[in-house]
Amino acid sequence: MAIRKVGVVGCGLMGSGIAQVSAQAGYDVIVREVTDELFQRGFKRIAGSLDKFVEKQKMTAADRDAVLARIKGTTKLADMKDCDLIVEAAIENFEEKTKVYRELDAACGPNTIFSSNTSSLPIGDMAAVTKRPDRFCGLHFFNPVPLMKLVEVVRSIDTSDATYQAAKAFAESVGKTVVTAKDTPGFVVNLLLVPYLLDAVRALEAGVASKEDIDNGMKLGCGHPMGPLTLLDFVGLDTTYYIAEIMFAEFKDTRYAAPPLLKRMVNAGYNGRKSGRGFYHYSAQA
Ligand SMILES: NC(=O)c1ccc[n+]([C@@H]2O[C@H](COP(=O)([O-])OP(=O)(O)OC[C@H]3O[C@@H](n4cnc5c(N)ncnc54)[C@H](O)[C@@H]3O)[C@@H](O)[C@H]2O)c1
Repeated sequence: MAIRKVGVVGCGLMGSGIAQVSAQAGYDVIVREVTDELFQRGFKRIAGSLDKFVEKQKMTAADRDAVLARIKGTTKLADMKDCDLIVEAAIENFEEKTKVYRELDAACGPNTIFSSNTSSLPIGDMAAVTKRPDRFCGLHFFNPVPLMKLVEVVRSIDTSDATYQAAKAFAESVGKTVVTAKDTPGFVVNLLLVPYLLDAVRALEAGVASKEDIDNGMKLGCGHPMGPLTLLDFVGLDTTYYIAEIMFAEFKDTRYAAPPLLKRMVNAGYNGRKSGRGFYHYSAQA
């Protein structure tokens, strides 16, 4: 299962990063967004990220240009028909993702491997809407993709050994370390991280401390690189809210219940860095 061409669905925080590291590793990449403006916005994020490597002299300007030239944008899923691997990083919503998979399943050849960057949706449930559940797995990258070293490769009950091996080899080829997880919502990292992030919101809601003190407490007291509320701004409050809802629906465990404050903020459009405002203010959109 040689992978040469990679399709990425979604060019938001994660899709843009996945497209970038794939192109940096030498793959031809095609990215699908719902509008050309959204693709251009993601493409600008990729160019900005590569510019930082050039500024730090970790990449030449010629290499940056070559990486950008390997990334094409489209609004049509059918343009991904000749991809060897598709990594879907669309919004965390089962209906939206399965709509994408149904269309891709009809367009792509039988050998194309499908993978999802979902944080919390069961891989097997998405695979079940396609005729290729054996060629379907989870490839869960971390934000920011160009810097974070981990990928969780998720095997559903149907994922074949060949698909798992190809997905693992792909993740390693883009410079990541793989951990293998079973198909349970949240896999390894979010199973543990999401209750912690939600508890930080609950602590703020209960007036335990200011947002700065909650963040400094965990930074300085536990050696975390950033506090939980800063991390929530970074991940996206909307994305975290969707993840919490999905995990709560699955486990019926109040540890995964989204606190009202998180819901209020998302409904008010405070989605974190990407929207300019979350728990903190950001001058430029990240
Ligand atoms: N933010 C994180 O830290 C993080 C980390 C790991 C995994 N994830 C997962 O990655 C996925 C994307 O999250 P994100 O943070 O990039 O969100 P985001 O909001 O930054 O980007 C989502 C993008 O998907 C696009 N989109 C929606 N429907 C689409 C469709 N049908 N076809 C193509 N594009 C579509 C949207 O226009 C948007 O640009 C989610 O499943 C999320 O759970 C997020």
